[in-house]
Amino acid sequence: MPRAYHVITFGCQMNVNDSDWLARSLEQRGFVSGELADADVVILNTCSVRDKPEQKVYSALGRVRQVTRGRASVLVVVAGCVAQQIGSGFFGRFPQVRLVVGSDGMAQAPDAIERLLDQPGMRLCLTDFSTSYPERDCALGGGQTPASAYVNIMQGCDNFCAYCIVPYTRGRQKSRRREAVLAECREALAHGTREITLLGQNVNSYGQDKCGDGTTFPRLLRDVAALPGLERLRFVTPHPKDISPDVIAAFGELPNLCPRLHLPLQAGSDRVLCRMGRKYDSAKFLRIVEDLRAARPDIALSTDLIVGFPGETEEDFQETLRVMREAGFMSSFSFCYSDRPGARAALFPDKIAPDVQQDRLSRLQALQDELGAAWLATRVGQQAVIMLEEASRKDAGEGESWQGRDIYGAAINVILPAGAGKPGLFLPVRITAAKKHSLNGEPAGNPS
Ligand code: SAH
Ligand code: SF4
Ligand code: F3S
Repeated sequence: MPRAYHVITFGCQMNVNDSDWLARSLEQRGFVSGELADADVVILNTCSVRDKPEQKVYSALGRVRQVTRGRASVLVVVAGCVAQQIGSGFFGRFPQVRLVVGSDGMAQAPDAIERLLDQPGMRLCLTDFSTSYPERDCALGGGQTPASAYVNIMQGCDNFCAYCIVPYTRGRQKSRRREAVLAECREALAHGTREITLLGQNVNSYGQDKCGDGTTFPRLLRDVAALPGLERLRFVTPHPKDISPDVIAAFGELPNLCPRLHLPLQAGSDRVLCRMGRKYDSAKFLRIVEDLRAARPDIALSTDLIVGFPGETEEDFQETLRVMREAGFMSSFSFCYSDRPGARAALFPDKIAPDVQQDRLSRLQALQDELGAAWLATRVGQQAVIMLEEASRKDAGEGESWQGRDIYGAAINVILPAGAGKPGLFLPVRITAAKKHSLNGEPAGNPS
């Protein structure tokens, strides 16, 4: 009987990418994917960015214990940012946990899993940070290469924004060598990938650390864009303070660079931005937006926002709403500020009461709904090409309902004849209606 693994992923695209890699790597070693109740290995890839996702990890471990009836033969692995943060602290509280894999330990995780399955009494904690980017075997290829692939270009962050735990959980910034990035992209493209998203906590400062090989981010972006067969290129996350004119210009010059940018604003008040240590002000942010629109007039922008940062007044909060309106974000991720261990702001004395935070968050999200609806409404009647992702449900008689994404990353739903859709196909559509967070379309050509 092949051994079964089950992965539960929390957090950002970097975790999603790490989990996908780990799954592929385990399958290459003969493991098969299975349900939680039947798994020999359960992997939780965790996020620590706010208190809530951290707490989710502890409740998930409780659920794992329940479903697997606490069987000692089940190997439970905790990976990712909470693993890095808590380390061997997991062993005492959760006896089923026998492997803790921090940010730089992922490359060794498949070997460690095999070893621990053979040695039931053993525990391992892989939380040391390495001094260079921890390369891992590619494990791409076969039938599993996704049409839309993530490719890491760096690990860690050196910015130490006052609220953020990431520099502690992911460690110092370590750029990956240009050749390694290009090799992984080429490999993915050779196996049918059509869209690549370059990943890093602060992609604009790619190459500017001691692991870098002198390649800058705009250089890397242009090199990846030039790879034959790449139809769509995206990247996350750029820090506004480091975005160079060359990256902005790329949006006007590279035909396969998608006109969509996730540019985290966090707050609109200059006083709050300064206390956050973000190193830009609202005027600089809006200048970047203007320059991006000059380079690529149809660019769609999304952002991250924090409400109720320590000391944030109602006037400060109003500034956030103002900048949101001026930037016209198509969507945003927004959260109440949450204290994180080790982050500077946890020691700031002027915390905002949870009910005030919540009230601001609701008002901010109401504005975002308005801005999102306005953006979606401009799309109705337009033509678009979507990359099909998955069939959302079967509609007997009428065909199948599929969802895909256009170049702006907007979700568009279409009905296709049964059997006509396939993940990764590009389909021309005409947009017929706007829904709350997505669009409806009808096929306007043949899939390719
Ligand atoms: N590197 C990215 C962000 C990574 S963390 C950047 O610099 O933009 C993802 C998002 O989580 C952040 O953009 C921020 O909006 C949110 N976040 C981080 N720490 C937080 C905290 N302590 N409380 C609330 N939100 C937080
Ligand atoms: Fe966190 Fe700031 Fe680094 Fe983003 S840039 S990961 S918010 S410290
Ligand atoms: Fe969460 Fe770590 Fe990503 S804290 S957001 S999983 S870098």
